[in-house]
Amino acid sequence: MIYAGIAGTGSYLPEKVLTNHDLERMVDTSDAWIRERTGIGKRHIAAEGETTCDLAEAAARSAMAQAHVRGEDIDLIIVATTTPDRVFPSTACLLQERLGNHGCTAFDVQAVCTGFVYAMGIADKFIRSGSHRCALVVGAETLSRIIDWTDRTTCVLFGDGAGAVVLKAQDEPGIIATHLHADGAYKDLLTVPAGISQGYGAMQGKEAFIQMRGNEVFRVAVNTLGQIVDETLQKNGLDQADIDWLVPHQANIRIINATARKLGLSTDHVVQTVEDHGNTSAASIPLALDVAVRDGRIKRGNKLLLEAFGGGFTWGSALITY
Ligand code: COA
Repeated sequence: MIYAGIAGTGSYLPEKVLTNHDLERMVDTSDAWIRERTGIGKRHIAAEGETTCDLAEAAARSAMAQAHVRGEDIDLIIVATTTPDRVFPSTACLLQERLGNHGCTAFDVQAVCTGFVYAMGIADKFIRSGSHRCALVVGAETLSRIIDWTDRTTCVLFGDGAGAVVLKAQDEPGIIATHLHADGAYKDLLTVPAGISQGYGAMQGKEAFIQMRGNEVFRVAVNTLGQIVDETLQKNGLDQADIDWLVPHQANIRIINATARKLGLSTDHVVQTVEDHGNTSAASIPLALDVAVRDGRIKRGNKLLLEAFGGGFTWGSALITY
């Protein structure tokens, strides 16, 4: 059997930091409110002219260095992003050119905050099929570009960043399983309701920004993530105690803690970066993974449960032996 294993991780955060205290000067909010309701203390914001591909490239180079892989060794590039540099070509193609790779498979995946888990699921299937042996999977976002900085209900939540993994074919798992879901019936609860084909008329002259019914999103997220934890353990014949690390999408500390409780995991087995990064959408899981790999918490042989929930709604998990 061929499996996909994580050979390297990397991440990148833009230099500029926006604290809750900075936001207090921009909208009617407070550090105490943001911390209590979300767990967020600060987030990073891309500089003017700094694009999603710039962040993706930095994260990718870091993962490639750890995996001892050069651009020409890669035969699959998947970038999960909701904030691509261009309508087309894909950010994956832009990244491929920068890495000096010519000819490998390259495409973007759009599943909002679940994008990285979707991309891992797709890369896993390419590698398991035997058609590809070395994949670069990136989650990268410049969400600051689709945020209404006068809307306190959304602008306190999000940040920019990128994370990446290099997956290589190996004889043992690796990625044990991925479980991917979506339900478009929830399309209006979390959305940027404008676009190329539909046009920007729906925004009535305003720019295209994230709109969210926070309360409802919160409720569905907690329920759905509880279900994906159950599904993942059950379908893979595992018990709560088999999971060493929960690496969740970093949207809100209360959502993360609810999922950890469902797993019976104490918080010291949960990678938590939401306090420092905010919600970086498709970048949040690979960012968190890289932080915990590099600081030595996640060790070879550990069993990881990655889970995410996002616009669509989309949701999913990846069960991995690191
Ligand atoms: N600062 C201060 N007050 C704020 C605020 C802010 N940034 N944003 C909203 N408020 C106010 C509201 O206006 C409301 O005031 P009111 O009672 O006078 O009407 C009050 O705080 C409570 O708002 P509510 O929306 O009920 O708060 P909440 O406890 O649900 O927390 C979220 C709001 C957004 C933090 C929470 O709903 C959430 O995290 N939802 C999920 C969002 C998410 O994760 N999205 C991405 C999924 S990938």
